[in-house]
Amino acid sequence: MSYNLLKGKKGIIFGALDENSIAWKTAVKAHEEGAEIVLTNAPIAMRMGSIKTLAEQIGAEIVPADATNVEDLENLVDKATEILGGKIDFVLHSIGMSVNVRKGKHYTDQNYDWTAKGWDVSAVSFHKTMQALYKKDAMSEWGSIVALSYMAAQRVFPDYNDMADNKAYLESIARSFGYFFGKDKKVRVNTISQSPTPTTAGQGVKGFDGFIAYADKMSPLGNATAQDCADYTITLFSDLTKKVTLQNLYHDGGFSNVGVSQEVMEAFVEKESEK
Ligand code: NAI
Repeated sequence: MSYNLLKGKKGIIFGALDENSIAWKTAVKAHEEGAEIVLTNAPIAMRMGSIKTLAEQIGAEIVPADATNVEDLENLVDKATEILGGKIDFVLHSIGMSVNVRKGKHYTDQNYDWTAKGWDVSAVSFHKTMQALYKKDAMSEWGSIVALSYMAAQRVFPDYNDMADNKAYLESIARSFGYFFGKDKKVRVNTISQSPTPTTAGQGVKGFDGFIAYADKMSPLGNATAQDCADYTITLFSDLTKKVTLQNLYHDGGFSNVGVSQEVMEAFVEKESEK
């Protein structure tokens, strides 16, 4: 069902790799809600993923950009403004990658070149994106910028590795840049802290099956799916959330405020009694 929440709005969506991607679902939903979109992803993802199928489905153009490359981002902002015929109303940063996670390097045995690559892709890319938009004055007043985060920024999830630090960095950039974007351009900047979600990035984390099941049992409403996340993100792009900024917004079925759930306690007691 469509509410026309984004009628006439123009946006850039980063990070749609395949149909499981949170960005993919958000692009489809934004289109349904009346938005015009430019899709972007790293050149390598163009070859590996199926972004072209999505572009055809929603009538969007694709402008490739490596989100760690300032020139690529500046080109993206110029091209998107040209294609969409005006300033940008919303941007979704849906990008994350840790080389240490990918290559199975333990948190206590980091390869720091990989650590640096990971924070550049997962966190500093958000600063670079906002700086390109800010310097080119490319955002409309009351525009909205959203990035995706995870609760490991606040609490320990041992297998999340250096992505935990990258997410803490990302959330801090949202607040720090959001201050200037708010003051100077009336643009809001937020992060959404999403439940574990079965996507390419999510499933790359060791022990993912365990912690997605655990989170589901802990959350009174169960895990939020990628589709739920897309729906929530649309509200943040809409005019109904104009004064929400500098926030890290939990979208996790209640997980972040639960100490323990009945189901988890029962599982624990069963295990103890088997001893
Ligand atoms: P995904 O694997 O579908 O998306 C990650 C995207 O990042 C891919 O499209 C990839 O091409 C892009 N990317 C990687 N390096 C890039 C670069 N240098 N330049 C431009 N794009 C680049 O996975 P998902 O889960 O949809 O990830 C989206 C966001 O959601 C990420 O920030 C992730 O950390 C976050 N998130 C995911 C959760 C999960 O359990 N899947 C939970 C909470 C947050």
